[in-house]
Amino acid sequence: MITILQGSDFHFGKPYLSQVEAAFHKTVLETDPDVIVLTGDFTQRAKIKEYHQAREFLKKLPDIPTIVTPGNHDVPLYRVHERIFSPLRNYRNYVSADLNGFTRVGDVVFVDLCSADPYRAIVNGRLSNKQVEFAARIFQGCSPEDFRILVTHHSLFRPDDGGSDNVMPKSSALLARFRKMGIGLILSGHIHRNCVMKLSSENQIDSTSSETDSVANASLCENLTIVHCGTTTSNRGRMAEKGKNSLNVLQISSYDIVVTPHWFEDDPGCFVARASTTIAR
Ligand SMILES: [Fe+2]
Repeated sequence: MITILQGSDFHFGKPYLSQVEAAFHKTVLETDPDVIVLTGDFTQRAKIKEYHQAREFLKKLPDIPTIVTPGNHDVPLYRVHERIFSPLRNYRNYVSADLNGFTRVGDVVFVDLCSADPYRAIVNGRLSNKQVEFAARIFQGCSPEDFRILVTHHSLFRPDDGGSDNVMPKSSALLARFRKMGIGLILSGHIHRNCVMKLSSENQIDSTSSETDSVANASLCENLTIVHCGTTTSNRGRMAEKGKNSLNVLQISSYDIVVTPHWFEDDPGCFVARASTTIAR
């Protein structure tokens, strides 16, 4: 079994909450994860001083595999010249030089894909054919027993809570493609609230597709689990997590996935475990 700690949407800059970051590091120590996954939006406006804070935050993490991916807030929004000519320069200098990658921890294989696209998408992200092919090549080289996880910032699935979030374009086709690669779990952020969902043919998975396409693709995504993380250290929580902060602890065994969201509580000033969801692999 491996334990994953997922944090997301830190938003170093004005929305960042330092007292919550301290609680995050305490939870890392207490849960003793095998791997940490951080699903993007390290900064609010991709400024160097914000990236300095992000780097200090990363330095405090234990020396274990840490998977990172950028979010749309990790590219400049208003500095147009920088957005066009070097949109991820600061991210690459301060967080990670690699934008797409893979990590093996035991028999669990992670592929992380950068869904922040400063040229085609301001907010809701994109994945290119080249990135999808990269994931396919990595997973083709895995054994059938390996559990396969995709890590990306933007959402491929909208929670059923009345939110108005846009998912990535062609999300139903992407989900079907990823499921065909044998991916069992997708970890993402962006929507600033927790969501744990195992897809089945009952799900309406992409409101931008025709209903026929969506249902057809939903049946191709059977048993794919989606886990979104809320905002871990910012004041930008949405819907049920408005004004809240959360992280996820996932335990993956050979037969199931147990997801335990933790929400920050002002008193006693730490992240507190909420009810777990257990999903068969
Ligand atoms: Fe965010």
